Order: sequence, then structure tokens, then C-alpha cells
Amino acid sequence: MISRRNFVSGAIPTVLGLGAMAAPGANAAGEMTLAEAGRTAGLLYGASISEEAFADPDYLDLYARETDIVTTDVALKFDWLRPSPARFEFERADAIVSAAKRSGKLVRGHTLIWNDNAPEWLRRLSGREVERVFDEHIEVVVGRYAGKLHSWDVVNEPFWPMDRQKGGWRNGPWFAAMGPSYVERAFSRAASIDKTAKLTLNEAQCEGNHEWGRAIRPPLARLIDDLLAKDVSLHAVGFQSHLQPQWPANYLEFADYAASFAARGLEIYLTEFDVNDQSFPDDSAARKTAVAETGAKFLNAILRAPAVKMVVNWQLSDRYSWYRELWRRNAPTSQRSPSPLPFDDRCRPNPLRAAMIGSFLAR
Ligand code: XIL
Repeated sequence: MISRRNFVSGAIPTVLGLGAMAAPGANAAGEMTLAEAGRTAGLLYGASISEEAFADPDYLDLYARETDIVTTDVALKFDWLRPSPARFEFERADAIVSAAKRSGKLVRGHTLIWNDNAPEWLRRLSGREVERVFDEHIEVVVGRYAGKLHSWDVVNEPFWPMDRQKGGWRNGPWFAAMGPSYVERAFSRAASIDKTAKLTLNEAQCEGNHEWGRAIRPPLARLIDDLLAKDVSLHAVGFQSHLQPQWPANYLEFADYAASFAARGLEIYLTEFDVNDQSFPDDSAARKTAVAETGAKFLNAILRAPAVKMVVNWQLSDRYSWYRELWRRNAPTSQRSPSPLPFDDRCRPNPLRAAMIGSFLAR
């Protein structure tokens, strides 16, 4: 199986620009692209990207045409950057940042601090050592890309009720060493180094009206109030928007919740949008229609909030979706591979693409 980690061993091509193979804007049929529809609606539209895209010209072409911003998918995650304590592997992220620059696209950094993705060596350190690595990591990584990023997911997924910590906090090395104060520390330190990136607190599950969504919303609001009361540089709240239609949702209620952060002066970003289709019919066409309908229902509700400034898909083509990774790992015998994204395996539009464009234009 090809994993993200070993896909491009060693040499990462840096000669390709994301705009190298197509004129930006209209697609081959002359139709409006997602990026253009986004602009019309006052939205930045984009998708996450990994090094695999550099080895797939059709896929790269899709980024060139359809996006105005790209998010580093795994390239800036702690374990990918720092497989060992002394080395920073910046090659992947550098390749994305420079390709985006050459083609005039913006970049989001994902993610500076997360209690997931901790390599074994970090887990073995004492609390004091973890604090030292934390400060060093922020200084080196934020410093390297200062002035080059549109925004940073400074902290990802602060809450994770499944970890059973008091207050619903996500557990992991940073939380274990510093408690909740790690969040403020990360934002303050990042703000002192990068004066231009929009510093974002990125959270999962809030879109749903299930046990987790309901459990995370109140503490997230309290955390944000606390940071703002302390004048911490926090510019945006990111909602991952991995929609889970197999569980209860009330997108209008979610939109009201999200809009409450606009009233506090924050921008709202939908940072990892896709639709889990596991509960939809087996028939591929029916499934894709249901994905499009769910996506449109969500977007039509949340885009009513003027503070929503960005919509980013987690990858663009089903073939590169993280749900495919999970599917290959968990159910390799199933014939039903996930289709959560606006483009299919061969980079042809899924119904979700037209639905998204429709929702953007209706704004
Ligand atoms: C995913 C990556 O896309 C996968 O390649 C990896 O195997 C698992 O993580 N929420 C996040 C992202 O914030 O960082 C995750 O990305 C998807 C869920």
C-alpha cells in the first residue's frame, strides 16, 4: 500500500508550480470554477495538498484551476517534521510553500500544535523537556514561514471528550506537561514571531449535534472568551467540517453557534470540509447525490454568516481522501470506497462540486 509517508522517497519535485499546467479560472468546459464561485461569494476557496499531488499532473492541474489557497495536509505535522529530536524535515512543506508562491496561491499552515501526532521520542520526555521542545518548535517552525502564510492552525482539536480529561480537553504530551495553558502559550509565542498570519484555533466535531459536538461547543466557547479576555492574538476559529451524516446534525443551530464567534470579532473558516458517505446507499450515483445534498445543506446554513471567509476541502479528489486511507486500513475487502470530495478518482467533477458552487453563488 502506498502511504503518504513513503510515496515520494527522498526527492520531492520543486520545479512544478501549482499553476504550471493550466490558466487559472475557468475549467476545460469554460465553466466557473470553485475558486471563482468562492470569490464571487467573498470566500477564499481551497483544499489541502500533500506531496502526492506533485507526482500526479492531473491532480496538480485541478489545484491550479480550482483553488486560491492550499493547506499543508501532513507536511507540517509534528511527527512528519520531527521524526527524531534533532532534525526538522522541512522539505515537504517548503515544496508546497514555494510551488504555491510561484502560482500565486495562498497557503495555510496545518498544524503547529496538536496533542495528536506525537512521536515516541516526545512521549518519553519529562514535563520540563516537553515545554522546552514546545517553545523551540514554535520558534523554529513559525520563524521559518513567517510572512509566507495566510493563516496558521496554531492549535488543533483542543477538546476531545473521549480522552476523559476534566473539562473535555484533549490529552497528549503538551496537555500533560502544561495543562490548558499550552493553548495561550502557543498563540502568544506564534504571534510574537509571525505578525501577518491569521492565527486560528481549529476544532473538530462542532458541526454535529451528536454527543461529541454538544460536549465540545461550550468549552470551546469558554476557551475563546478566555483567550480574547487576555488579549491573546486569536484571529479566527476553524471548524473542520468533516460532516458525519450518519449522526444527528442541525446545521442551522451550528450556524448560530459559529456566528457567535463573529460577534466576538473573529473570522470563521471551514478548514477540512468533506462528507463521510458511509451511511448513504450502495449505489454510487445515489451516494454521490446524497453527498452533494448534505454538503449543500450544510453550506447553505453556515454561509449565511458573513464572518465565514474561507472554505477548504480536505484534498480535492476522492482518490486522495483520508477516508480512503481509513477504508484501506479497516475494510480492505469492501467494494464501497468513500467518495467524500468534489472530484472523483479521475479528477472528474462529482455532484458535490456543482452543489458547492451553487451554495457559494446563492450567498
Ligand atoms: C489526516 C491526514 O489527511 C491523513 O493523511 C492522516 O493519516 C490522518 O490525518 N483532522 C485533521 C487532519 O485535523 O489533520 C487530519 O488529517 C484529518 C482529521
